[in-house]
Amino acid sequence: RRLLLQGAVGAGGLIALGGLGAARSMVSAAAPPVKGSLNKLFIPLPAHATTELTAAPGLTDLGGGSMGMALLYNGHLPGPTFVVPKGQLVSVPFTNGLDAPTTVHWHGLIVPTAADGQPHDAIVPKSSYLYQFTVNQRAGMSWYHPHPHLATASQVAYGLAGGFIIRDDVEDALNLPSDPYEVPLVIRDANVDKAGNLSYNGKASGFTGSIALVNGTRDAQLEVDRTWYRFRILIGSNSRLFNLTLSSGASFRLIGNDGGLLPTAVDVLAMELSPGERVDVLVDCTGIGAGETVNLVDTNSGWTLLRLTGTGALNAPTSVGRIPADGDALCVDIPTLVAPADVTRRTFSFDGMTRINGLVYDMDRISFEVPENTVEEWVFRTNGNAPHPVHIHGASFQVVSRTGGRRKLFEWEAGWKDTVLLHDRETVTVRIRFDGGHRGRYLMHCHKLEHEDAGMMLNFMVVDPNAQLGASPAAYDTA
Ligand code: C2O
Ligand code: CU
Repeated sequence: RRLLLQGAVGAGGLIALGGLGAARSMVSAAAPPVKGSLNKLFIPLPAHATTELTAAPGLTDLGGGSMGMALLYNGHLPGPTFVVPKGQLVSVPFTNGLDAPTTVHWHGLIVPTAADGQPHDAIVPKSSYLYQFTVNQRAGMSWYHPHPHLATASQVAYGLAGGFIIRDDVEDALNLPSDPYEVPLVIRDANVDKAGNLSYNGKASGFTGSIALVNGTRDAQLEVDRTWYRFRILIGSNSRLFNLTLSSGASFRLIGNDGGLLPTAVDVLAMELSPGERVDVLVDCTGIGAGETVNLVDTNSGWTLLRLTGTGALNAPTSVGRIPADGDALCVDIPTLVAPADVTRRTFSFDGMTRINGLVYDMDRISFEVPENTVEEWVFRTNGNAPHPVHIHGASFQVVSRTGGRRKLFEWEAGWKDTVLLHDRETVTVRIRFDGGHRGRYLMHCHKLEHEDAGMMLNFMVVDPNAQLGASPAAYDTA
C-alpha cells in the first residue's frame, strides 16, 4: 500500500493527513481501543551505523491493535533506535517518502553542517540523501527528527522521531543493565481523531495533545522482572513539559542526561523536563511483585505514562551489573569549561513566541560568528511566553547558573547539555565551546517546536579563530 501525505497547507506548514482511501478502510476495520485497557509498550527496533532510513506516512499501532495514520521512520513510531559505538562512521541513506520537504536532524550529535539536517538542506519528496558523520563524542542518548523550514512541529507531531544511543568504554565499564533491562522511553503527547489517526492543531503558542504516548503506545504497560531497569528517557513532545515521578514515591537514580553520564549518580524524586531533553535513570523494580504495578506519572497533567507491572520473575544475576549507589562516581571524563578573562558573552532574549533578540528567523541571516575551540558564555533571558527549552546545534554546553524564577540548577543539568529549560523570569548562563572540528552554519532555537517554526531561531557560523570575523549584528550585545 502506498499512502501519500497531502501537501503542506497554510503559513504554519501544517500537513493534513487526509484522503487515505486504502488506509481508511484498514482503520475502520481495526478494533476500537478498549477504555481502560493496557497496551504492551512498543520497543523501537534496533538500527546501526548504516541502516537505511525512510520517512513516509503509514499505519501504526498506537496500542492494543488500534491502528492510526501517522508519519513514520521505517514504518514505525518511534523510528528505530540507532546504537553506535564511539568512533564509528555513520552513513545513513535517507529517503523522503513524504509529500513535503523534510530533513533529518541528529539532535545532540556533533556533526558537520552538511549532515546536520538544517532547514537549508531540505530533501525534496521522492529523493534521497546520505547523512554521513563520525561519532566523536562520549556515550549518551541523542535523537533524530525532521527540521524542515516552517514544518518541523507538524512532522514531529505526526510521528517522526527516533533515538540514537552512543556506547563507549567508560560507560561499558559500569556494566549497567542492558537489553531487555535497558529500555528507551520516548515520551510525548498527541491528539487522535475519531478515525484513530494522529491529528495536529498546533499554533504559534504551542500544542498540547490530549493523550500521552510512550514509544508510540497509549496506556502503555511494561512487564518488569524483579531487578533494576535502565530507562533512557527522551521528551519528544512538541511543547508540553513533563514532571516525572514514580507512583510508589520512590526515587529515580539519575545517572545521565543529554550529553551522557553525570559525574555522580544522584537520587531524585521528580524531574521537570522539556521538549528535547533526555535523562538516563535506574529504577529499582526489585520490590514489584507479580501483578503489582508502579506507575511512571506526569504530575503536570496527572497522566499515568507507563505502568510497570511485575512478572515476579527474578532476573538472572549476571545480566545486570552492580547498580551505582546514590552519590557514587560514574565517570571522570567531564572537564569543566573555564571562561577566559576576556570571555565573549552573548545575550539572547527569547521574546514572545516568535523572536530572539527582536528578530524572527531568517534562513539567510547569519546572526554572529563564533571562533571554534574558544569558550564563550551565552546568556538566555525570556521576555514573555516562557517556558522556552533552548537548544543549540554543533556543540554541547555546561549550564553555569540560573537566576530568577527557580533560581537553582537541577541535578539533570550537570555535565553536558544541548537543551536547557528557561522558565519565566529566569536567566540561564551556559558555557560552550565549538570543538567538534566542524566549521560552518549551526542553529540555536527554542525547542518548543511551534515557537521554532514561528521564528524563534537563528543561524550562527562557527569560524576559524584566526580568520577575520565579520561584524556581529548590533542586535547582539557581545561584551
Ligand atoms: Cu531537536 Cu534544532 O532541534
Ligand atoms: Cu519558546
